[in-house]
Amino acid sequence: MSKNILVLPGDGIGPEIIAEAVKVLNCVNARFNLDLALEEGLLGGAAYEAEGSPLPDSTFEKARACDAILLGAVGGPQWDKLENRDLRPEAGLLGIRSRLELFGNLRPAILYPQLADASTLKPEVVSGLDILIVRELTGGIYFGEPRGVRTLENGERQGYNTYVYSESEIRRIGRVAFESAQKRGGKLCSVDKANVLEVTVLWREIMEDLASEYPDVELSHMYVDNAAMQLVRAPKQFDVLVTGNMFGDILSDAAAMLTGSIGMLPSASLDKNNKGMYEPCHGSAPDIAGQGIANPLATILSASMMLRYSLNEGEAADAIEAAVSAVLDQGLRTADIFSEGMTRVSTSEMGDAVINALQ
Ligand code: IPM
Ligand code: MG
Repeated sequence: MSKNILVLPGDGIGPEIIAEAVKVLNCVNARFNLDLALEEGLLGGAAYEAEGSPLPDSTFEKARACDAILLGAVGGPQWDKLENRDLRPEAGLLGIRSRLELFGNLRPAILYPQLADASTLKPEVVSGLDILIVRELTGGIYFGEPRGVRTLENGERQGYNTYVYSESEIRRIGRVAFESAQKRGGKLCSVDKANVLEVTVLWREIMEDLASEYPDVELSHMYVDNAAMQLVRAPKQFDVLVTGNMFGDILSDAAAMLTGSIGMLPSASLDKNNKGMYEPCHGSAPDIAGQGIANPLATILSASMMLRYSLNEGEAADAIEAAVSAVLDQGLRTADIFSEGMTRVSTSEMGDAVINALQ
């Protein structure tokens, strides 16, 4: 039976980087007889322009029915001024995450040895870096109610959001994190702000509680401010980090930069059955859209995570990862990871090089 993949190019550089990942998927599809069937859909600003909604019903239906989703990126300045926030591209992304219950966001930050020089940190601080951020993706302050902007009696406006986590939400993301740590180095650091926020006092308590079920995992706790500092001071102390939606958003961007460029980082967002949506950690980069200079490797690596986690095709995933490593060995670099003595390539040249390395 064929495996149906919904491809959502999105906005900005989304279509350019997705085109390269699709080329790579078509290549492994043929080579490993994967029987993948790719179908495209609209999400974000592109969907709003075409159908008046950033998450049209037609897209959601396809997303529900397919086996896995590959997403480029959404958003752009032309939609930032939309008065109705529900119509903004980001609402489409958050909507699909939430409605499909993709609560488990895995964001690996791996430094390819070839890129040690591209990091803004000293090579000895980052060489060999291999950490995994497990971010809760469908709760916390991103979705908490009540929220809004209200006018007080004195006429002043006040913005407010609610940071809320229920026990079951904490427990299920905790399990994803403990299980990830079991498969890796056996160390889990839970990041919270338990010195100030009650919601994360509960978070810490549930993580402690879970720890007894995973005696092979060493659990530690860290406040988020310290975690941000430790990530740039000594990132190799970490194996797996688990945290809530907003802290995870922030820390994963910081972790991305350790690897040289956010253009290298894939991610997986999984539901309880490991059905998932796969997307690069970076955004739609409207400033460089249409120039053919974006790095497609994070999206190509997202496709590889999709094969591994949702489609059980580890061999094809290994082949893609080896091909990415091979093109870096060849000295090929898009602008974001370029350094002296390397060969600068465009988005599509990078995709072609990965395909050559695969063959
Ligand atoms: C991410 C992005 C999104 C988020 C935005 C685009 C809504 O920054 O995936 O990290 O905040 O989750
Ligand atoms: Mg982010």
